[in-house]
Amino acid sequence: MGELNQLKQLMENNQAWAARMLARDSEFFKRLLGQQRPEYLWIGCSDSRVPANEIVGLRPGELFVHRNVANAVIHADLNCLSVLQFSVEVLRVKHIIVCGHYGCGGVLAALRGDRLGLVDEWLRSVVYVREKNEAQIEQIASETDRHDRLCELNVIEQVANVCRTTVMQDAWARSQEITVHGWIYGLENGLLHDLGMCVSSEAELNELYRAARARKGPRRE
Ligand code: CO
Repeated sequence: MGELNQLKQLMENNQAWAARMLARDSEFFKRLLGQQRPEYLWIGCSDSRVPANEIVGLRPGELFVHRNVANAVIHADLNCLSVLQFSVEVLRVKHIIVCGHYGCGGVLAALRGDRLGLVDEWLRSVVYVREKNEAQIEQIASETDRHDRLCELNVIEQVANVCRTTVMQDAWARSQEITVHGWIYGLENGLLHDLGMCVSSEAELNELYRAARARKGPRRE
């Protein structure tokens, strides 16, 4: 293998990063070895422009992360459900953040009905979100705005999906304090917006879900 194939630059970046962390705090890695105690679970899009830890200013050990195309929470997805169950029941996180982003390519493919390959099966759940909200989306004049709104509606739906898992229902039934949040990130300015889906109990879900779907999102105020 030639040097280029070994991603030399990334390995060098890593060495420099580890040295910087140690220079700032000589015990940093030693402390993390003991145990991770993150208070937050992040469920976000795989998009390279939305780096979870960076945009909320959290360090290694502070954020448990699950990412997939279009931040979907699907009740038959063993991967996402395992992350959720482990973070709620073992790590006992206090907050779950479902974070979408404007300009999401997966959401756009679902909006247009594009054929991209196997990922179309995955994006089927976002197509369902589009169909569920068809009346509202059809009233929006420009495709950019329809796209932005579907990005928001997708987050709202995925928050509801988290809340409807047996993991969350059981956690709330035993009075575990845990809140699910729905946020969206703006690629153009690096800012997060809260979509009003801050759910702390099963009883709150339906009303918040109804209101969040009916409310004009941050882009349509
Ligand atoms: Co995306």
